[in-house]
Amino acid sequence: MRVLVSGGAGYIGSVTAERLQAAGHQVSVVDNLSRGHRAAVADGTPFEVLDVRQREALTGWLRAQRVECVMHFCASSLVGESMQDPGAYFDNNVGGMIQLLEAMVAAGVPRMIFSSTAATYGEPEEVPIPETAPVRPTNPYGESKAISERLLEWYRRIHGVRYAALRYFNAAGASAERGEDHDPETHLIPLALRAAAGEMEALAVFGRDYPTPDGTCIRDYIHVLDLADAHIRALERLDDLDEAVFNLGNGEGYSVLEVIAAVEAVTERKVPLRDAPRRPGDPARLVASSQRARRVLGWEPGHARLEQIVADAWRWKQRHPHGYEA
Ligand code: UFG
Repeated sequence: MRVLVSGGAGYIGSVTAERLQAAGHQVSVVDNLSRGHRAAVADGTPFEVLDVRQREALTGWLRAQRVECVMHFCASSLVGESMQDPGAYFDNNVGGMIQLLEAMVAAGVPRMIFSSTAATYGEPEEVPIPETAPVRPTNPYGESKAISERLLEWYRRIHGVRYAALRYFNAAGASAERGEDHDPETHLIPLALRAAAGEMEALAVFGRDYPTPDGTCIRDYIHVLDLADAHIRALERLDDLDEAVFNLGNGEGYSVLEVIAAVEAVTERKVPLRDAPRRPGDPARLVASSQRARRVLGWEPGHARLEQIVADAWRWKQRHPHGYEA
């Protein structure tokens, strides 16, 4: 299929573009390069520096590339940042979604696979979290994605856009070629690797007083290659799906301290730590029930072990000590 990957110069978008191409799909990429890297886009891939809020330019691109499905990755995606600047999150994520959907309708593109998030659930009542759990985000980032899902549902009803919204838990790891290179970096695994490599004085542990066994937050880490695989499965089944929302996680939760132990085991180095207050907007425990993705998409995480996820991230970091060059 001819797929536009919006945000294809970013972390999850670039890995998914790589896997789509390996599976024989025709990929084009738009990215405003605000956080992405030109070097993450494979040579020869049709690519335009474009913000999805530029509706007319985007409509032209969709028509010129004869796009059949948009995989929409580009968004602001940091919980902490969204608590400081909610307007930027609603502008980029919700505003971008509206412009993109309008461009798709204008160009007659009938499908979207959307990067949603576990942050739509907020503080869950039930763990592992099923897709039927209430959507009650505790931060503007999660809210911006929840609103985007609602928008998609209206565009389905009114314009017939078929969609799947994939709610990722904590993406981590790397493919052989592509990995995580954020500026600023705020995510636990890449920061713990930096601390292990001696690139920072100490890793902050944000809160040790959560209601969890060791007092630190629990998350469900999912390999970026498994996320990419789920996108391709959703794409290939999209026209026959009865359900639209899918959690993507391993169903296994690890605390911040357990992740640090895994990083120490993989790198064979100590991670220096310092205690820090809770980070605003962080729920105590997010673990997925991915039964629906397994049942409906036939998806099975192939890289579920935390040590393997960390080892792949570490290997990529060692090969790209300064991240992408461009
Ligand atoms: N953490 C630390 N120290 C750090 C960085 C993180 O203790 O220096 C803790 C956080 O407080 C949290 C856990 O490590 O408890 C994971 O934090 P990340 O920043 O790596 O990831 P988040 O859980 O905040 O968010 C990520 C994505 C979101 C997505 C969410 C879904 O950034 O886009 O996973 O679970 F919505």
